[in-house]
Amino acid sequence: MNTIVVKDYNELSKMAASIVAEQITAKPECVLGLATGSTPLGMYRELVKKCSEQKLSFSGVRTFNLDEYIGLSKNNENSYYYYMMKNLFEHIDIKTENIHIPDGSAVDVDEECVKYENAINASGGIDLQVLGIGKNGHIGFNEPDLYFEAATHKVRLDSETIQANSRFFPNSDQVPRYAVSMGVKTIMKAKRILLLASSGEKAEALYKALAGPITPDVPASILQVHQDVVVLADESAYCMFRKKGA
Ligand code: F6R
Repeated sequence: MNTIVVKDYNELSKMAASIVAEQITAKPECVLGLATGSTPLGMYRELVKKCSEQKLSFSGVRTFNLDEYIGLSKNNENSYYYYMMKNLFEHIDIKTENIHIPDGSAVDVDEECVKYENAINASGGIDLQVLGIGKNGHIGFNEPDLYFEAATHKVRLDSETIQANSRFFPNSDQVPRYAVSMGVKTIMKAKRILLLASSGEKAEALYKALAGPITPDVPASILQVHQDVVVLADESAYCMFRKKGA
């Protein structure tokens, strides 16, 4: 595991965008796994900037998003589809047919999960998977559990996740209770993983994930056994390592 600690969110966003850009430059037809949430917003802004300055092209890139809420339509402002369009896809030269986001309004969610997993496999697999980390240690929407859920699946969101994500909704009652998420095995099959962690809110989760036991109770801890993970954290998110002298 390669850990990079940067000063603040601004530096984290720039460094994350450079790592993604290097991947695209090395393999213009690469497959990216993408995350939503607050953490990658700055990275997306930097990538959009690189594209508008013609320093980067997504014309050959294929993308697969980690997750989507069940029950929100694509034009719902809180859907991850909407987030991705507004924060990245509408501003870059990616081909629409190369964008993949689980369909949270699919009539048959189980079938959608199988289709999504098959599409990832058919793409040749994810070259670089970008991840955030939840305060409860989740990756994608793989919540703390008794076992690691392998493939893309329907998940019931943890109360902590509903609480954390309610900041985007008028109130917590409106946060969907279910989502579709890539599974832990789907994520672990990515050739390279970039885990982003910013702010003191993530310090404990990051510490448990990287320095604690590997357990489905802290889903991100599984990353300890992946052969190519870059952890990119800012000082606030990394503070527990400093305190423990690690
Ligand atoms: C989002 C996702 C989640 C987030 C995590 C952190 O697609 O899969 O695992 O990465 O909840 O969210 P933020 O960045 O909002 O703190």
